[in-house]
Amino acid sequence: MFADKMLRNKLVLVTGGGTGLGKAMAQRFSELGADIALIGRREEVLATAAGEISREGGRVFYRICDIRDPERVATVMRELEAEAGPLDVLVNNAAGNFISPSERLSHRAVDAVIDIVLHGTLYCTLEAGKRWIEHGRPGTVLNIVAAYAWTGSGYVMPSAVAKAGVLAATRSLAVEWAPHGIRHVAIAPGPFPTEGAWQRLAPTERLASMMQSRVPLGRVGQPVELANLAAYLISDYAGFINGEVVTIDGGEWLSGTGFNSLRSLDAEEWDLIRSLAKPGRKDQVPPG
Ligand code: HXC
Repeated sequence: MFADKMLRNKLVLVTGGGTGLGKAMAQRFSELGADIALIGRREEVLATAAGEISREGGRVFYRICDIRDPERVATVMRELEAEAGPLDVLVNNAAGNFISPSERLSHRAVDAVIDIVLHGTLYCTLEAGKRWIEHGRPGTVLNIVAAYAWTGSGYVMPSAVAKAGVLAATRSLAVEWAPHGIRHVAIAPGPFPTEGAWQRLAPTERLASMMQSRVPLGRVGQPVELANLAAYLISDYAGFINGEVVTIDGGEWLSGTGFNSLRSLDAEEWDLIRSLAKPGRKDQVPPG
């Protein structure tokens, strides 16, 4: 469905691009003609990913960078610009998350997640945006949020707080920086079982199967599905989309609130419910 090399002449920086969805996006952008810059915390992971991606032919650069360190973010952006040229697209993909009852979280656990997801995203965005504005160049920021950025979620509370902040940043800067030709877009992914995420979010078979059964389409997402959406959103075809979040979750969030989860009830249980509510029972309380 995509025009050949539709991302040609774009340099795309993907944070957390050495693994998981970040790597899948980088791979797809490269196939579509983009130059890629990967940043992440582990050199061997980045080197391997860069090697795999560049095998398809495109230019791939990488730098070690923990996005929680704003000085390092600035240094890396400067170095990449010197080596690869000016950046066109920033993909804020790097995240940290794990499931835990909130009463078991230490303040360090809260910081670990919020520092990566919210602060790290803002450090990268500010650094890229300042450069674009200073040089009068257009740019695009793609943020990865979550459907629970709107609703909040138990058991991943710091991530929900941080993703809500990233959503607010997406919409704030979509307006503030639009006059500079800088677009902001975001994706809210549902369950995509990558190794890093599943180890922390669905470490048992039961949890993994619960993740899948929450999705009305009855399956989890494939990384390439998200990568294709991301490719469209950062491309010039999406040039008039600004401040929008696209959810890609098989319908999960629609079934995740209110009574929608009752879809798991079987016929027998519905019979029982019906009998309990049967009109005419002596002890029945009229509705309302
Ligand atoms: C309880 C935990 C914990 C866990 C860490 N901590 N993991 N507490 N349960 N599973 C606590 C530690 O005990 C420590 O507190 C504090 O958190 C910091 O932990 P460190 O391991 O020292 O931190 P650090 O090395 O900085 O690692 C950050 C991390 C880690 C976020 C904790 O998981 C990480 O690096 N994650 C990156 C990759 C990732 O998370 N990918 C999944 C993203 S999925 P104390 O007090 O003991 O010192 C995602 C999807 C969202 O975002 C949408 C889903 C549908």
